[in-house]
Amino acid sequence: MKILVVAAEAVPFAKTGGLADVAGVLPKVLADLGHEVRVVMPRYWGVDRRALAPVGGPLGVPMGIIGTQWGAVLEGRLPGSDVPVWFIDHEQYFGRKHPYNEADGTGYPDNDNRFVFLSRAALEAAKMLDFRPDVVHVHDWHTAAAPIFLNTVYAHDPFFAGTASVLTIHNLQYQGQFFSGLMDVLGVGWAHFNHLELAHHDQVNLLKGGLYHATLINAVSPTYAREIRTPEFGYGLEGVVRDRAWALRGILNGVDYEDWNPAVDPHLPAHFDVGRMDGKAVCKAELQFEVGLPVRADVPVIGMVTRLVHQKGIDVLLDALPEVLGWDVQVVLLGSGERWAHEAIERLGTQGRRNFAYRLGYDDGLAHRIEAGSDLYVMPSRFEPCGLNQIYSLRYGTPPIVHAVGGLHDTVDNYDAAHGTGTGFKFHHLSPGALRDTIGWAVHTWFERKADFAALVERGMRQRFTWDHSARAYLRLYEDAIRRVRG
Ligand code: ADP
Ligand code: GLC
Repeated sequence: MKILVVAAEAVPFAKTGGLADVAGVLPKVLADLGHEVRVVMPRYWGVDRRALAPVGGPLGVPMGIIGTQWGAVLEGRLPGSDVPVWFIDHEQYFGRKHPYNEADGTGYPDNDNRFVFLSRAALEAAKMLDFRPDVVHVHDWHTAAAPIFLNTVYAHDPFFAGTASVLTIHNLQYQGQFFSGLMDVLGVGWAHFNHLELAHHDQVNLLKGGLYHATLINAVSPTYAREIRTPEFGYGLEGVVRDRAWALRGILNGVDYEDWNPAVDPHLPAHFDVGRMDGKAVCKAELQFEVGLPVRADVPVIGMVTRLVHQKGIDVLLDALPEVLGWDVQVVLLGSGERWAHEAIERLGTQGRRNFAYRLGYDDGLAHRIEAGSDLYVMPSRFEPCGLNQIYSLRYGTPPIVHAVGGLHDTVDNYDAAHGTGTGFKFHHLSPGALRDTIGWAVHTWFERKADFAALVERGMRQRFTWDHSARAYLRLYEDAIRRVRG
């Protein structure tokens, strides 16, 4: 199969969240399974042009009333593979440090044009470089315009005859909703500005258009695929999702166990695995030392690594923490994100407690050391399309405490003391009280039922959520999409 993956971010070139992990790893696994894959993403400021080779000529991208915008394609490779990455080079749109926003978090005012450009440039690049995709796989609102283009301006283009499209929803809250004048830039015709396709509350909604036009759709976990049919999780698009329920699947992300393996992880001061857990105690002591907590083996460390945004339930955590910190536990939090959250965490941190440590920033090494050195991990997300950290926690022997939504529900089994089953601790209604009680249950288990806790840890460590498994599910989805397009 020829597969064109189009995304706004991909590791290791640009990352703001789990989308980058998926876009940077899935293509390699697909290639290993024998398919021809190209990744298309912007060349942001941080990607060094000198390491890339120009391919093809100047790339002309029709942008409606703005006129044709000219860019170029620079080719690189996904590290550790032969998978070509086609970086769309356009200094004015993409020569910036952050993919979506200024340093203070405000979105760039031209994000509409930037990502419409990316979506169309990907298709024009495929034509210019004569890569005839069987399937175009796009991710989230940033690239959702590509399926719209395939069904409209390229509908009769012989080059894309038989090309199917798949849209993956990593997060339905971000929709790419803009002033209706964007229709004139898209250039697909105002007839498509209707309530089934692109119009949403009198604005253009790119994700909605993508959901309508993609041959098939998937969300990044089976539970999230069900949840987004409801108003609570659909953020206004639940109707569109329901209309296309027959075309919607749930495919859990895999994790990269080469990067997240406590037996060999280079970020750790000591290594461990099932059957040889001594190294975990060393990781715990070193973590306590690193973040300035009293070095004690006889107290449970509760860890958390996250983007500090409303989605992640930070406000609920901060409401529960004062009481939790009154117990004999230690909490270590690493995160970066919205200012209100930074401020609230700093307020809590300056209240003279010795058992709360936090770091505000992005630190991959510390993220690994928190996973390894903690006894428990907490993830009170309001919604979680898939979530990666709870899966890392399982592998690192750090049972996760999770709100049972989306991928958290699908990857963590609730602890059952009577039957000796489960891999973590779940609660069903998000509130400070429920979170506190569940942390209490986990902490109690840690203190009072040492053998049961060790067995729980071991069950979690034996779980595997591999990319190989997920990639095969994507291949079935692609095949299905292609069959539908080709009748
Ligand atoms: P999301 O994509 O919604 O942020 P995921 O759980 O899918 O959630 O992915 C988050 C990824 O980002 C994980 O790999 C996690 O370790 C990483 N991460 C998030 N915040 C930080 C941080 N402050 N420092 C280091 N890594 C972080
Ligand atoms: C989004 C979701 C997260 C998911 C990631 C990768 O960022 O918030 O739950 O794991 O995408 O699919």
